[in-house]
Amino acid sequence: MSGHSNYVPKTGFERWLDARLPIARLAYDSIVDFPTPKNLNYWYTFGGILALCLGIQLATGIVLAMHYVPHVDHAFASIERIMRDVNYGWLIRYMHSNGASMFFIAVYAHMFRGLYYGSYKAPREVLWILGCVIYLLMMATAFMGYVLPWGQMSFHGAVVITNLFGALPIIGESITTWLWGGFAVDNATLNRFFSLHYLMPFMIAGVVVLHVWALHVVGNNNPTGVQVQSKADTVPFHPYFTVKDGFAIAVFLVMFAAFVFFNPNALGHPDNYIPANPLVTPAHIVPEWYFLPFYAILRAVPDKLMGVLLMFGAIAVLFILPWLDTARVRSLRYRPTTRMYFFIFVVACFVLGFCGGKLPDEHVIPGLKTFQLIDADLNSMVWLSRFAAAYYFAYFLVILPWMGLTETPLPQPESISEPVLSHSAATPAGAAASPEKRG
Ligand code: HEM
Repeated sequence: MSGHSNYVPKTGFERWLDARLPIARLAYDSIVDFPTPKNLNYWYTFGGILALCLGIQLATGIVLAMHYVPHVDHAFASIERIMRDVNYGWLIRYMHSNGASMFFIAVYAHMFRGLYYGSYKAPREVLWILGCVIYLLMMATAFMGYVLPWGQMSFHGAVVITNLFGALPIIGESITTWLWGGFAVDNATLNRFFSLHYLMPFMIAGVVVLHVWALHVVGNNNPTGVQVQSKADTVPFHPYFTVKDGFAIAVFLVMFAAFVFFNPNALGHPDNYIPANPLVTPAHIVPEWYFLPFYAILRAVPDKLMGVLLMFGAIAVLFILPWLDTARVRSLRYRPTTRMYFFIFVVACFVLGFCGGKLPDEHVIPGLKTFQLIDADLNSMVWLSRFAAAYYFAYFLVILPWMGLTETPLPQPESISEPVLSHSAATPAGAAASPEKRG
């Protein structure tokens, strides 16, 4: 992809194929021989982990779809059948449901890594935006997947989220009816959600191809944020990073297996083991953990339309991030003040997630008449979400543009090799001289 290729076909068949469809050359150039910065750390293994997660979701999902029945009268029972009667159905289902959570753990690590090392900055804007598209598709896929078991949380979650579109002026109601395929969340809704839930992972796979293509055009960023300058800064992807990625994948799979085999419902909600009943609303409708920060932003705002706009805005702002960060230095290693703000940003995201999982305290929201939940703790919960949500937006819209213009960065290393080599010198004096320690 980068033009020059070191691939040499060895057998007659390889030569024959290479002249017709150089697919082995493509694989060799992008997975074996690809020049990769030699200082990539474990935060750089999440891309490979994500590819594995997508593969697991596709494989288990296809098997689940062989037994699942997308009908309001049969969906819940068909899931129970998968759990009890289908050979290894319990394993396939638990891998799929926990796999969604694992996928989001990996994607959040991958995104925070990108934010920290400035991987969204030129020339990687398109790579970043394609990542944002993947993230949006992942959220839509996960939301629709959660509706399929047709439990109480599936149904009422779908009602709450689809109703959000109704807050949009003029077109809101038509959009909701269009999403539902009728005038309520019902069989037509379940059917289309199943169809789209099957389709979208393949769309994700397509965008991942573009994402990796864009990565191979511009090359990896790295923890120093300094561009690759010579061959000395890189090593071939194989065996160095196949081994590193392989080790990280093994560790990740241990965590995955711990959930699947020892606590498979830890990340789910018990109400989803109750069949959907439109006439009984659960006391506390909560989305899956990976949506909680956005749910908190939605609820932090008293006005429904504003809440919806801010919730979508929280994702939209990621798309324009490459142009909001005005700094010329990529990595936060060399931007100590911004780095401090970044860590506060990470805390704000966790705080939002924490608040999103708490009961909504309608009593502090002006205009609403429900007073039965009065409780000082809940009151503070809304304020906490408001502060954290304000910080979330301030980080992107004020802190990054402002700090980029005003902060004097620390000296960066001359090249990627410099800190790597000074590390390997490993004498106390050598270590003290390394920019890593200075940073
Ligand atoms: C199915 C989901 C995804 C897959 C399979 C995937 C795959 C990959 C792979 C294999 C890499 C190279 C290895 C690495 O840096 O970890 C990478 C890099 C990157 N990804 Fe993703 N990715 C996904 C989602 C995302 C998302 C949601 C974002 C951001 C919103 C994103 C942003 C980036 C960036 C900026 C890089 C370059 C990092 C650097 O060179 O410093 N990716 N991705």
